[in-house]
Amino acid sequence: MKEKIKVKDKEFSVFIKAAEIDKSVSRIADAINEDLKGKVPLFLVVLNGAFMFAADLMKKIKVENNISFVKLSSYSGTRSTQVINELIGINEVVKGRTVVIVEDIIDSGLTIRRMLDNLNQQEAADVKVATLVYKPNAFKSDYKIDYTGFEIPNDFILGYGLDYDGFGRNLPDIYKIVE
Ligand code: IMP
Ligand code: MG
Repeated sequence: MKEKIKVKDKEFSVFIKAAEIDKSVSRIADAINEDLKGKVPLFLVVLNGAFMFAADLMKKIKVENNISFVKLSSYSGTRSTQVINELIGINEVVKGRTVVIVEDIIDSGLTIRRMLDNLNQQEAADVKVATLVYKPNAFKSDYKIDYTGFEIPNDFILGYGLDYDGFGRNLPDIYKIVE
């Protein structure tokens, strides 16, 4: 693992290492396994960013489940745009189901707010939110986040699914921008 990397025009330094991420993922999986014992949740993974978190998380989930994907995008470069594009919607029947939203990072909170509204409209029985990373100082919404891996300051990060302009998603560690 490199301490410092350059992605396009920006420099990043290592922030959360793979081993630490793995521990957090295990902790979240344990909590979900405990809370949803006897249920058959539908995991809805928010693409693209959550693909790596979801892959690692789902290997540790023991309750019977279904997995599907939605694709939303609100970020451009290193900023949230406030406009959410729905590129792939919810294609499953969610009425009456326990749903777990799997997200890479909650920033302003808008993306997940939009998903929660959709799921409520479609009468999901219970919706839980699991995010690997949460930026509490950027959060402008009001819903409960049920499972959080890491709380971080408002710095732009990449790696482990998270990108800068489409790059860096494959990195096994999380890096933070060097201002
Ligand atoms: P929100 O709607 O503002 O909560 O934004 C959430 C989405 O923005 C996430 O799903 C990410 O795709 C993206 N995002 C937010 N912060 C970062 C970051 O620091 N690095 C990379 N992507 C981010
Ligand atoms: Mg995302």
